[in-house]
Amino acid sequence: MAMAAAAAARGVLAVVVAVAVLWGGNVARAQTPVFACDASNATVAGYGFCDRSKSAAARAADLLGRLTLAEKVGFLVNKQAALPRLGIPAYEWWSEALHGVSYVGPGTRFSPLVPGATSFPQPILTAASFNASLFRAIGEVVSTEARAMHNVGLAGLTFWSPNINIFRDPRWGRGQETPGEDPLLASKYAVGYVTGLQDAGGGGGGGALKVAACCKHYTAYDVDNWKGVERYTFDAVVSQQDLDDTYQPPFKSCVIDGNVASVMCSYNKVNGKPTCADKDLLSGVIRGDWKLNGYIVSDCDSVDVLYNNQHYTKNPEDAAAITIKSGLDLNCGNFLAQHTVAAVQAGKLSESDVDRAVTNNFIVLMRLGFFDGDPRKLPFGSLGPKDVCTSSNQELAREAARQGIVLLKNTGALPLSAKSIKSMAVIGPNANASFTMIGNYEGTPCKYTTPLQGLGANVATVYQPGCTNVGRAAPTSGAAGTASSSAPPHRPQPAPT
Ligand SMILES: *[C@@H]1O[C@H](CO)[C@@H](O)[C@H](O)[C@H]1NC(C)=O
Ligand SMILES: *[C@@H]1O[C@H](CO)[C@@H](O)[C@H](O)[C@H]1NC(C)=O
Ligand SMILES: *[C@@H]1O[C@H](CO)[C@@H](O)[C@H](O)[C@H]1NC(C)=O
Repeated sequence: MAMAAAAAARGVLAVVVAVAVLWGGNVARAQTPVFACDASNATVAGYGFCDRSKSAAARAADLLGRLTLAEKVGFLVNKQAALPRLGIPAYEWWSEALHGVSYVGPGTRFSPLVPGATSFPQPILTAASFNASLFRAIGEVVSTEARAMHNVGLAGLTFWSPNINIFRDPRWGRGQETPGEDPLLASKYAVGYVTGLQDAGGGGGGGALKVAACCKHYTAYDVDNWKGVERYTFDAVVSQQDLDDTYQPPFKSCVIDGNVASVMCSYNKVNGKPTCADKDLLSGVIRGDWKLNGYIVSDCDSVDVLYNNQHYTKNPEDAAAITIKSGLDLNCGNFLAQHTVAAVQAGKLSESDVDRAVTNNFIVLMRLGFFDGDPRKLPFGSLGPKDVCTSSNQELAREAARQGIVLLKNTGALPLSAKSIKSMAVIGPNANASFTMIGNYEGTPCKYTTPLQGLGANVATVYQPGCTNVGRAAPTSGAAGTASSSAPPHRPQPAPT
């Protein structure tokens, strides 16, 4: 026992030391963005894929020509492997920005350098403004803050937002993430937010992206865990008319009018086929009919799910082959890194299919400037911590809340006239909630103002919770949400996106 305890104590000490070293390393690295084609290295700068005078397609072809099959496969997954021999650092494709730059997704984090970002209302509220120019204005602010964080090594360039699934069934727990139930409004939201995120303005040249957005989750995905139905295995049986009228319009608008750089296929099946293995839905509709200029990414990890949970293919190589051949370019997860070489060797997949996928990914990275050297010397290169949480950015978040809040008029009693109020009672357990009110797919906000603080700013207020804390539970740790704390815990990352 004593020896075991001593060993355990040493283990704890080792963990503490390891964490301290890691933390120290993060702080140092947080100053420097990741990028390829470092101009200060003559060998690297001379590679054809670094030549900015060539088209993105020509540069992608040059890079592809230098890679072995095993190396190509490293570019099929979100944790993109480093390729030191070509001066290419590791890149994390998974970042999130549902309603502000978020720490959900390993590509982005906050640090003392940028401790928080502007937190906009959840999309269900913003959409209730019916104001397309507001959707776009929010996207512009979010991408400015994202670029500012990228320049100091805290954020990626590829954001898997927005969620534009039609919110048809109110039992779905993710309705707050979406612009709601109406296909036309959801389409307008998708186009506004995506163009706001992506538009690089005049400075970036043809096809340049400020950041890359992603419309998800394609398609007919609006179920959760309910009476034995769960999203990982659900088979959405949808008529062609319902697909065309209800589920597809936001995605179609996102690709055609929003010119989005990415679409994410979902976990569920549609009419018996997993969406990430459906050639008609991916190559046929998204790339063929709608002409996606970008990459198709799986949910995390829907390729694994279609093999291990749905048992859709007999072996993992078939799962790798059918998804890539259907038009999938990038896998959130590690499944394609593990099984794609074997799939090619077994003749289930040709190397040219892998080439198509990595080329689509490379071209997006090129449009983002990842292969243009130090981003601080490029368009958006002057953005930094000073451009995050500015007062005008926070004022836009406040304005979005004002435009989206729906107040019933109650036969003329509302809105209350501020002048006539002498005192106020605020009642309810969430009245003074901070973290709970930030919603999900959140980032650390610039600051919290609870409803109680906001309402009570200029008038005498009494407060009664009425009942105990109903704050949101953290999903994996089991700890209760901190409804009254201004310092939220950093929650573990959820697996799905
Ligand atoms: C330049 O980059 C190459 C990788 O392409 C690397 O092998 C070499 O060591 C680098 N040179 C310097 C001086 O860092
Ligand atoms: C839409 O939002 C923008 C940005 O806040 C605002 O300037 C504009 O007045 C709004 N339009 C309407 C019709 O409310
Ligand atoms: C409301 O929350 C704030 C910040 O967490 C706290 O300082 C304050 O005491 C709370 N107010 C009441 C009336 O509980």
